[in-house]
Amino acid sequence: AAPAAASKQTPSGSEPILVGQVGSLTGSEATFGVSARQGISLALQEANAAGGVKGQPLALRAYDSQGKPEEAAQAASRLINQDHVVVILGEAASSNSMAMADKAQAAGVPMITPTSTNPAVTRKGDYIFRVCFIDPFQGEVMARFAHDNLHLERVAVLQDNKSAYSVGLADEFRRKFTELGGSVLSTESYSKGDTDFRAQLTTLKKARPEALFIPGYYTDVGIIARQARELGLTLPLLGGDGWDSTRLFELGGEALEGSYYSNHYSEENPDPTLQAFIARYKAAYGQVPDGVGALAYDAARLAIDAMKRAPDLSGPALRDAIAATRDFPGVGGSITLDANRDAVKQAVILKVEGGKARFVTALKP
Ligand code: PHE
Repeated sequence: AAPAAASKQTPSGSEPILVGQVGSLTGSEATFGVSARQGISLALQEANAAGGVKGQPLALRAYDSQGKPEEAAQAASRLINQDHVVVILGEAASSNSMAMADKAQAAGVPMITPTSTNPAVTRKGDYIFRVCFIDPFQGEVMARFAHDNLHLERVAVLQDNKSAYSVGLADEFRRKFTELGGSVLSTESYSKGDTDFRAQLTTLKKARPEALFIPGYYTDVGIIARQARELGLTLPLLGGDGWDSTRLFELGGEALEGSYYSNHYSEENPDPTLQAFIARYKAAYGQVPDGVGALAYDAARLAIDAMKRAPDLSGPALRDAIAATRDFPGVGGSITLDANRDAVKQAVILKVEGGKARFVTALKP
């Protein structure tokens, strides 16, 4: 990055520095966008209380993706061309982040996704970062847990073919579970927006699996769990971080008891920094943060830290500062960005018990 004096944004009193967010504030993944906005807002408020960045306060511009890639891309363009934000935070879902990343990369505006785990997201280019692990690791974690801890040998998969996340995580799980000596008996699929999964579940039941891996988002998973029980499928359900929402338990209820999923963090982790964050988040929003809320907070704080270190807030300077992040103390664990602009972090396995996600174990990379 050439340090061009002309591109330098001169601090102009109380003129705020704009941070952009794109998230699903409505639709079937609405908790992703709302939680992310809450986490980001808290980080900005705390930074402003501590004096802002380069003498300027920070302000958030948040747009709704409605959970759709086309809307996410349009929102990213608006943040870039109309609002001239210095950085874009989001999306949560990989398909939406991929659509936004094309715009951010082309414009040279840094983008950090809190929770998009599909490897293709950061491959969009050198302006695209994430503060979470990727699905080759997450798929391996759940395959190992299913095989080694739950001693399962025969599983089936139900995936969302319209979600890059779901397809990718299903692939990684199948690959690893088979490599460990287990059998993946059959795979059935659905498309985002479907509400009747009985045909697929009936087919899967015939294969007599010991467990069902469902790498979907919480709304679909809640409905699938209920329909599976109605059809007499009593086996454990397994999933990934897409289950992460308090809505999951309202939608799935009893049907989810005894299920397991991998995630980015557990609220039961006694780490004092995390517990202090949970207390502040609860005071602000009246609820415990989910993984998206926690990681969006981390993404925002990491961006603010980079803004402070960057010589100026131009795209190239901020990009370089973000890329240089090492051992950043996130509430969801320490963040070091690797050469692929991904974070290398541990995953936790949670078990649904009493309508809550209880910590079972943590698996390191
Ligand atoms: N990892 C999911 C994806 O890439 C998104 C997600 C992460 C959702 C964490 C909820 C919690 O699409």
